[in-house]
Amino acid sequence: MAPIIVEGLRRLEYRGYDSAGIATVNEAGQLDRRRAVGKLVNLSDLLVHDPLPGRAGIGHTRWATHGVPNEVNAHPHRSGGVAVVHNGIIENFHELRAELAAKGIPHESETDTETVAMLVGAYMKEGKSPQEAVRATLARLEGAFALLFLFDGEDDLMIAARKGSPLAIGHGEGEMYVGSDAIALAPMTNMITYLEEGDWAVITRAGATIYDAEGKLANREARRIRMDAARIEKGGHRHFMMKEIAEQPTVVGQVLDAYVSPDAHGIMMDLEGIDFAGIDRLSIVACGTAYYAGLVAKYWFEHYARLPVDIDVASEFRYREPPFAPRTLGIFVSQSGETADTLAALRFSEGKAARTLALVNVPESSIAREADVALPIHAGPEIAVASTKAFTCQLTTFAVLVVKAAHARGEIDDAGMVEMLTDLRHLPGLMSHALASDELIRAAAEEVAEARDVLFLGRGQMFPLALEGALKLKEISYLHAEGYPSGELKHGPIALVDKATPTVVLAPHDGLFDKTVSNMQEVMARGGRVLLVADARAKDQAGSGVWKHITMPDAPEFLQPILYAVPAQLLAYHAAVAKGTDVDQPRNLAKSVTVE
Ligand code: F6R
Repeated sequence: MAPIIVEGLRRLEYRGYDSAGIATVNEAGQLDRRRAVGKLVNLSDLLVHDPLPGRAGIGHTRWATHGVPNEVNAHPHRSGGVAVVHNGIIENFHELRAELAAKGIPHESETDTETVAMLVGAYMKEGKSPQEAVRATLARLEGAFALLFLFDGEDDLMIAARKGSPLAIGHGEGEMYVGSDAIALAPMTNMITYLEEGDWAVITRAGATIYDAEGKLANREARRIRMDAARIEKGGHRHFMMKEIAEQPTVVGQVLDAYVSPDAHGIMMDLEGIDFAGIDRLSIVACGTAYYAGLVAKYWFEHYARLPVDIDVASEFRYREPPFAPRTLGIFVSQSGETADTLAALRFSEGKAARTLALVNVPESSIAREADVALPIHAGPEIAVASTKAFTCQLTTFAVLVVKAAHARGEIDDAGMVEMLTDLRHLPGLMSHALASDELIRAAAEEVAEARDVLFLGRGQMFPLALEGALKLKEISYLHAEGYPSGELKHGPIALVDKATPTVVLAPHDGLFDKTVSNMQEVMARGGRVLLVADARAKDQAGSGVWKHITMPDAPEFLQPILYAVPAQLLAYHAAVAKGTDVDQPRNLAKSVTVE
């Protein structure tokens, strides 16, 4: 059983890799566990020397919230014959722990999770059955959680509960599985039941009995879901991140095949009745890279569809309590579809926005299921923690949506629509062309990797790309980087410019290029080194003094933010490789952040 759990955890390492652990109940009914700090490989090494027998087990890979990453704080937590693994945060754990301490129940870790095991254990000591004890515990917990319990003396029982964090139950032949993402269960089964908010389930090898928040039997459908386990391999690349950068022409092509007719005359995007002619305002909400995709979309919607857009970082949105103008469409962007802040923002918007639309990569995710309409971005599984292909697929999906909005609002006619869609059809080819600069970018990145600080500049729709380029570099190479609108440099950040600080300028030859040249001159006049990423025309006009040129293919203005994502990603990737960091799993991060 333990090797199967390790394989499942390998697929979930994107959730965090601060520590990992497994607990099993062996055939004599004894509960035992192994835990190791750091990545999963440390746990699997430990299990080689100290195996864990048993046919029932639970496992966890942690992204630390309460308590440093060490073995004592690693899950599964155990108390009074109960072991538990947990995603989320138990907000009232201080009160619960004080109450349990008053009863003489000691804690050993600094985590909120251990309190859950202590509480279940305490109820069982009072004579409650495992089911009754879990139910009584769930009623006491505040916050968000996905929980899975295993019990000493019970080799055929597990209890799972969901509130705020997803849980999938997998159906096998005489065996059952539970995972916080169905992807963890892919090698075993693709027959999946998703628990709904407030559900809890009693699981034996024969099946699962699911109850809703009121304790009533709940009938939740089991569905065969599409999971292409084979695609979760590196495909000959050294890192998932490079594989995912390289497959962008293909996946962007998939987005276009899904949403644009082959002759580029029509859009095949079912918005289930959302009509942009009846929308007065958009409110886009997301985090991190998905937020930057939304920021590009703001430029596009306002420019091409003349539709005003508010945009917010999800963690700010809900607590800012923004008023909603009538006829506002809420758009939520999330690769994982599970980001707690974005999910909370979506829930806050329900009933306030006219409709809600989600752009997600995981069609079965919470955000996809809770939004009125979900548009898949068709990127396929993204494994590297730093998002690359999901960003360009989010942008491509947005681009089609913008054309649809511009047409519906009468800002472009049929011919204008065909022209923009035809341009979009050229995107995969242009991206392949951009990828051909890989060697040149690698050479530049090796020098950039020597710096301590890096500036990224862009104007207009390229400004979000400057932010994204800086974020990518920070995330995986740990270099300090800042993205600015080119024109903003002189209002403060120019003080950072010196010989040691490279300035990456993302500047295709667009209507603002002359102004960007002036901003570059300001940098070079102060001894700064400019790395110019631009098309050949821009390169010619940039004049002398530029430190390095990366030449991008000529592309219609509309497509440039999507295209220029490629050199920004490659620069970060090669700088990280040059620095020898852990590219796919950079320190302190997790791929899917399911806590607020
Ligand atoms: C950046 C990155 C993060 C995510 C952010 C949102 O490379 O991976 O900034 O973009 O955490 O995640 P999703 O899109 O899953 O909501």
